[in-house]
Amino acid sequence: MENQNCIVEVEALHTQFGDHVVHHDINLCVNRGEVLTLVGGSGSGKTTLLRQMLGLEKPTHGSVRLFGYSRQNLNFTQSKTIRNRSGVLFQQGALFSALTVFDNIALPLRELRKLNERTIRDLVMIKLKLVAIGPEHANKMPADLSGGMIKRVALARALALDPELLFLDEPTAGLDPELSESFIELILTLRSEMNLSIVMVTHDLEPLVALSDRIAVLADQHIIAIGSLTEVCRYPHPFIKSFFKSVLNKQIKNKEATWKTIPMPS
Ligand SMILES: Nc1ncnc2c1ncn2[C@@H]1O[C@H](COP(=O)(O)OP(=O)(O)OP(=O)(O)O)[C@@H](O)[C@H]1O
Ligand SMILES: [Mg+2]
Repeated sequence: MENQNCIVEVEALHTQFGDHVVHHDINLCVNRGEVLTLVGGSGSGKTTLLRQMLGLEKPTHGSVRLFGYSRQNLNFTQSKTIRNRSGVLFQQGALFSALTVFDNIALPLRELRKLNERTIRDLVMIKLKLVAIGPEHANKMPADLSGGMIKRVALARALALDPELLFLDEPTAGLDPELSESFIELILTLRSEMNLSIVMVTHDLEPLVALSDRIAVLADQHIIAIGSLTEVCRYPHPFIKSFFKSVLNKQIKNKEATWKTIPMPS
C-alpha cells in the first residue's frame, strides 16, 4: 500500500546473492523532509539497499517506491522524472576525471537538453557558490582539487537540478575533523534552504548525530531498530552496543565536550 508521506518506501524487500541472504523482509519509509541514516556492520547491506533505492540494482523480491512511483514498472518518462528529482553523492565523490569542475556540474543540466549554455553557466556558478567554492576553481580538473573540495563539487553536481531527495553515501569518509565539520554545516544549511529529504549511509558519528532525524540499523538481514539516536541506543543488540560505543570512544578522544550529551548504550 502506498503511503503518501513516504518519499521513499521499501516494502517486503528481500535480497539474495546465491545462497547468501543479505536482506529479509525489509520495510522502511523515508518521510518527506527527514534525514534518515542507515547504519550497520560491514556487509550488512547498506550500500545494496541504497543502490536499490537508486534503481541501480533490483531486489530479489519486494518493492521500492520513490515519489510514489514503483521502481519495478517505470516507463521512460517516469524514470527520467525520478532521476531529475533526486541527487546522489557517491562515496568517492565520483567526479568525472576528464571533465573540469564546471563541466562536471553542468553535466546533469546539459542532459536535460532544455537549457542554453548561458543559462547553464549561470546555474553552475550559483551551485558553486552554494557549496562555497570560488569561481576561480571552475576550470580546474578533479585531480587538482583537495578531498574536501571534491566532495563539495560532487555535492554541487548532486544539487544541480534542485532535487527534493538526496542520497549521501559516506559523506564525510576520508575528511579530516575540520573539513568534516564544515561539510556537515553545509549539508545542514542546504537542507533547510532546499527543503531536502535525505537518505544517508555513514560510519561516522559526527554526521549521524548532527544530521539524522531517524536512524535505521541494519543487522541480521533486518532493520533491527529505527528511531532517534536515543531510541536506537536503547535497543539491546550486540551491534548497537559495539557500534555506538566504539564510535563514541573514538569521537570523545577528538572532541570531549560536544559528545557528552550522547546517550551511552546500556
Ligand atoms: N553484486 C553482488 N554479488 C554478490 N554479492 C554481493 C553483491 N553486492 C553485494 N554483495 C554482498 O552483499 C553483502 C552486502 O554488501 P553491501 O556492500 O551492501 O554491504 P555494506 O553494508 O554496504 O558494507 P560496508 O559497510 O562494508 O560498505 C556483502 O556480503 C556483499 O559481499
Ligand atoms: Mg557500503
